[in-house]
Amino acid sequence: MPNTVLIGSQWGDEGKGKIIDVLTAQADMIVRYQGGSNAGHTVIAEGKKRVLRLVPSGILHEGKICVIGNGVVMNPLDLIEEIEMLRSTGIECLNRLYISTRTQMVMLYHRALDRADEAARPEGKKIGTTGRGIGPAYAAKVSRTGLRCGDMLTPEFPDLVREQVEETNAKLAQLNAEPLNADEMVKTYIDAAERLRPYIVDTIPMIHEADRAGKSLLLEGAQGTMLDIDFGTYPFVTSSNPTSGGACIGSGLSPRRIDRVVGVIKAYTTRVGEGPFPTEDFGDIGRELAERGHEFGAVTGRPRRCGWFDAVVARYAQMVNGVDFWALTKLDVMDTIAEIKICVAYELDGKRIETMPASVAELARCKPIYETMPGWLEETSNLTSMDQLPPKAKAYVERLIELSGGRLGILSIGPARESTVRVGI
Ligand code: GDP
Ligand code: IMO
Ligand code: MG
Repeated sequence: MPNTVLIGSQWGDEGKGKIIDVLTAQADMIVRYQGGSNAGHTVIAEGKKRVLRLVPSGILHEGKICVIGNGVVMNPLDLIEEIEMLRSTGIECLNRLYISTRTQMVMLYHRALDRADEAARPEGKKIGTTGRGIGPAYAAKVSRTGLRCGDMLTPEFPDLVREQVEETNAKLAQLNAEPLNADEMVKTYIDAAERLRPYIVDTIPMIHEADRAGKSLLLEGAQGTMLDIDFGTYPFVTSSNPTSGGACIGSGLSPRRIDRVVGVIKAYTTRVGEGPFPTEDFGDIGRELAERGHEFGAVTGRPRRCGWFDAVVARYAQMVNGVDFWALTKLDVMDTIAEIKICVAYELDGKRIETMPASVAELARCKPIYETMPGWLEETSNLTSMDQLPPKAKAYVERLIELSGGRLGILSIGPARESTVRVGI
């Protein structure tokens, strides 16, 4: 398989975990390149459901090497928990999972800051974060006060943790939040460092050697294009670059070594947290999609907001990521809908626009311009080839791809590995 970057094309939860698991069969090394335990990637394999937050979703395939790249913000305590969860379900990470010495860490004090910051924001200014400390950890990275995994292996580590806890306590006091106990925290992290020591290596030469040896690399994005700190609905975004450009920054692989980009996209749209969402449906359709699609956060359990497919979003994702192939997911969720709408453009202040506005204030004023198609009202979850797709479902899929640009590579019609039709890839 050519070196592949896989990205989310909407507001996250497109089914990236499932598609990574499917593509892993042909990959040798899977590299997570950004985000942290704000992600929840669900993989259902051999009847077992697992939600992965930091470990690449390729881990369920025996013998594949998984890497947590330098662009990730890694919470050591969450990672230990995830490694244990995998071990208890028969998957051993040791000698298969490697964490970059350059990976920034999310510490308990980042989490405390994330929550205190959200609580202090007035209504309308809240982001609706996952409360996992992601924003503060990336802020620390950029302000050059972050701790990296490599620091865990040095004798100075306890002092570095203590210093950061003390500095954070001053910030927490300003936000009227409780201070943290530095001694306890130092103890917790010394223990975590010992447990994670065998996994921490310089992953840059490792990735390059694999590439030079002709192995195929699969770079796993978390979140989605519309949550990108640069390209998303700023400020209602996450603090990293989920888009395909982030794959190079977050792994150390050169852009010249990327062969193709796969964009995962749902047959409708969802969003968790705050921020504009033009096609959101507050009525029966929104409820039906949420129920049939089990649209509840894999990490926080929060209900996801649901609505129609937005081709303005898809086209924009195609542009900024350079999507070669789409993996279209959750078509089966729409099996019961009699009349389906697709947003083809927006109306902004009386004018038709085809592209994504940069300002959230403008996006909030955008009204979707819909095209309507008849539903197929047949079950699609059992089909095994495109020929078996009901003609109306096929027309819907073809129209989505036509509006989005690029080609269809994978059609997903159920959460399990088997419920997948591979078309072009
Ligand atoms: P991710 O964050 O992009 O990996 O997506 P999540 O795992 O957070 O959310 C996707 C949800 O949809 C999970 O519960 C998956 O098991 C489920 N899922 C993935 N693909 C399909 C599909 O084609 N059909 C249905 N019905 N469910 C799917
Ligand atoms: P996966 O990888 C959906 C959203 C949060 C919030 C915003 C900022 O499973 O697709 P953060 O905690 O990152 O500072 O929150 O981003 N968000 C996600 N929404 N899927 C995710 O990940 C998300 N990760 C963050 O809900 O609106
Ligand atoms: Mg998710």
